[in-house]
Parts: sequence; structure tokens; C-alpha cells
Amino acid sequence: MSDTIRFEDKVVIVTGAGGGLGRAHALAFAKAGAKVIVNDLGGSTQGEGANASAADKVVAEIRAAGGTAEANHDSVTDGEKIVQNALDAFGRIDVVVNNAGILRDKTFHKMEDADWDLVYKVHVEGSYKVTRAAWNHMREQAYGRVIFTASTSGIYGNFGQSNYGMAKLGLYGLTRTLALEGAKSNILVNAIAPTGGTRMTEGLIPPQVFEQLKPELVSPLVVYLGSEACKETSGLFEVGGGWIGKVRWERSLGAGFDPKAGFDAEDVAANWEKICNFENAAHPANNIEAMKEMMANLQKFTS
Ligand SMILES: NC(=O)c1ccc[n+]([C@@H]2O[C@H](COP(=O)([O-])OP(=O)(O)OC[C@H]3O[C@@H](n4cnc5c(N)ncnc54)[C@H](O)[C@@H]3O)[C@@H](O)[C@H]2O)c1
Repeated sequence: MSDTIRFEDKVVIVTGAGGGLGRAHALAFAKAGAKVIVNDLGGSTQGEGANASAADKVVAEIRAAGGTAEANHDSVTDGEKIVQNALDAFGRIDVVVNNAGILRDKTFHKMEDADWDLVYKVHVEGSYKVTRAAWNHMREQAYGRVIFTASTSGIYGNFGQSNYGMAKLGLYGLTRTLALEGAKSNILVNAIAPTGGTRMTEGLIPPQVFEQLKPELVSPLVVYLGSEACKETSGLFEVGGGWIGKVRWERSLGAGFDPKAGFDAEDVAANWEKICNFENAAHPANNIEAMKEMMANLQKFTS
């Protein structure tokens, strides 16, 4: 393997990099020559407490290997402080990896506002705050790479994770729009849905599989998406255990009804199979493509 993907003179923030996947990403970026801000609040998986040693240990590891890194102990909800830290330490910001995360798993009927709010705050508001604080710097320098950490729990749902699934798929909605808004400024924005053996998944994944799902198997994709070599934007990738795949929306061609004559629930019921039939399905890549069948239906009945 050649070392063509390098980050000399590039500054990377990895949030929640004191352990698990974030630590692996930070080590990988540093190995590729990046100056890394290793952010971590150092709390529990449930988002309680704080401990500076998590980020400090990873910085020590990076420095021991000859790399460049600074620790940051702020919460991602204070994103502007993390970005300011990058600017103070290294003078610029090129890549943001929004990785920090917590879990407050509960079935919906037992969900409390505190569980809902804290998961929203760390994943959604935290990713927003860090990215928002970095965004205008990226625009000014006409270069940036942003990676959001989604989850299969958002894409497919997962029992007991309504708050987490909401937050994680919300980040993909954010990815899609930021990809559009960032394109002119060479800011590319992608999302990953990783699987890795970390403290977050310990006890949930069978031990033999857990051992094999090493966090560092997720990082090559993150480093690629964070690199100048990457031209991808708006993508969503499932990744883990040495495998990477891309996810896209698929929509049936659907059923059309006469909007002038009107139609009722019985017509919907009678056409249910057609509405849900994925034969020759469409894969709209944007809003205009998504409107195609709807517009064709209007035209059919109005022309
Ligand atoms: N491990 C998996 O299989 C998996 C699956 C899907 C998604 N994810 C996501 O990947 C990311 C990393 O998770 P992980 O598995 O490495 O878990 P982890 O608990 O090892 O890492 C999360 C890190 O985020 C930090 N953190 C939490 N709240 C923070 C805050 N407010 N500010 C700054 N740092 C904070 C924690 O201290 C921790 O070090 C998370 O967003 C998680 O939701 C993980």
C-alpha cells in the first residue's frame, strides 16, 4: 500500500476521540500527517460525568508515535470552543469528524424527556455546533471535509433506540443539505453508519464478533472521506469489520390518481400493491429527481 493520502498542513478535529471509534480515527489521521484536535468530554456511555484523561491519553499516544495533536475537553455542545482551540493551536481547520456520542436506550413508552433531550443534545446539537463553528472558516479557505456519524439504528430502526435513531438519521438529513450548500466552496460532507467493538456496543454484540469488529477497521473510510483525494459528497456508508458499502434511497414508481376527479382511501387501498412495488424503482438523488413521477402524474391528468 502506498502513502498517497496525506494530511501535512491539514488540521482535523475528531470529537469523542478519547476512546472507541474516535480514538482510532484520531490515530489514523495523525499517522497520515494531520495535526489533530483530540476532543473528548470523558463522560460515561450514558453521558454522565467528565474526565480529561480520555483525550489526554490519546494525545500522548499520538505524540509517542511522532504525530501532532492537542487535547480538548469541551463538550461538543460548546462546539465553538473546540474550533477555537484548533485555530489557536494550529491556525486553521480542514476536517471535522463528528463522532462523539452517548446512549440512553429505553423503549418509547418508558422514554423520559431527559433521555430524549440529552441524546438530541450530544448527537444533533453537538454535531451542529462544531460544524457550524468550522463552516465559515472552511468557506473562506474554499476547502473542507465534514463527516457525520449516523447509525444503522437510524437507517433501519432498533428496538429501544427511538431517541438515538431519531438523532442519527437526523444527521444524515443535515449531511444532504450541507453537501448542497458546501459544494461551491469545495466543502464535501458525508455520513457513516459504523459498527465497531467499543464500550458502547460491549455486551450487545457477541464477544467473538465484538473482538473482530475492531474500531480501526472503520477509520480508513473516515480518513478517505476527510482527504483531498475524496470527491464524494452527500454519501452515506455502512462500515465495519473490514467491509464498506454505500446506502441510497429507493422509491417505488408509485400509483397515480386523477387529482381533479379526486380519489379516496378505497382507491389508495385498491392500489396498495402498486404503491409498494419496487420493480424498476427510482433512485432520486435530489428533490427535482424526486418530483419526477409526481409531476408526470399532474401532467397526465391536466394536459
Ligand atoms: N460502536 C458502534 O458499533 C457504533 C454503531 C453506530 C454508531 N456509532 C456511533 O459512533 C460514535 C462513536 O461511538 P463509540 O462506539 O466509539 O463509543 P464510545 O463511547 O467509545 O465513544 C464515544 C466518545 O464520545 C465521547 N463523548 C460523549 N459525549 C460527549 C460530549 N458531549 N462531548 C465530547 N465528547 C463526548 C465519550 O466520552 C466517548 O469517548 C458515536 O457517535 C456512536 O453513536 C457507533
